[in-house]
Amino acid sequence: MNWYLLEGLSVVTDEKKIDSMRFAPFASEFRQEFYRLLEARRSIRKFKPIDVPDEVLDRVMAAALQAPSGKNRQNWRFFVLQGEKRDQYVKLSQKSWLGIKDILEKRLKPSLYAFTERFFYTLGEAPVVVLCYSHNDAEERYHTSIGSVYMAVENMNLACVAEGLGCCTMGAPLEIKDEVDRFLGVESDSGLELLCAVVMGWPDHDPPKAARQLEGRITKLR
Ligand SMILES: Cc1cc2nc3c(=O)[nH]c(=O)nc-3n(C[C@H](O)[C@H](O)[C@H](O)COP(=O)(O)O)c2cc1C
Repeated sequence: MNWYLLEGLSVVTDEKKIDSMRFAPFASEFRQEFYRLLEARRSIRKFKPIDVPDEVLDRVMAAALQAPSGKNRQNWRFFVLQGEKRDQYVKLSQKSWLGIKDILEKRLKPSLYAFTERFFYTLGEAPVVVLCYSHNDAEERYHTSIGSVYMAVENMNLACVAEGLGCCTMGAPLEIKDEVDRFLGVESDSGLELLCAVVMGWPDHDPPKAARQLEGRITKLR
């Protein structure tokens, strides 16, 4: 069996083999684990009140930075909130909810409204909240800029699974975009745009995997 020792994010094998193996498929056990990891990822919305150690969080964030990006701009910007700052963010989130709940009740489906309300109030008790921004640039297409950040967000999601953490990517904070910007000190002319939050921590529930639709999702042409 080929042993791969994952240190941080660099795949370390026998030094001499690294070059020749760069484009070789991973060993079958590793490949199986990788696909299992993809399948195992689910949105977790309830967390244990236990902190995430710095070294674990650092690995998750380092995984985000490995993502590809349009023109290699690496235009993601992450604000990682923990402790007091996270608590202040929850308070901001609760206060903002009162201001927008009536509008959202009319606009969102009841199930989505309920989800959103829960998020604004508790964040599932997540000890870590990562606010994910893109840094947009007139030279780059808008969608490319946004897409690059979401690729990094998916890396973050997968790294969480590998670490035994849970997370949920959330668009709900977009409802209070301006308040979040002010809270973080993000200036309106900074080129930064909030895209989502990722709430993260040790899972405290075991939800079923949401069913995947296959019909019409992939069209193969030759
Ligand atoms: C861009 C984006 C925004 C999302 N926003 C929310 C949200 O605001 N609240 C929430 O509870 N889940 C949110 N989710 C999670 C989705 O509901 C979830 O990914 C989907 O239902 C599939 O379930 P799974 O992640 O468990 O596979 C979001 C996911 C993405 C990718």
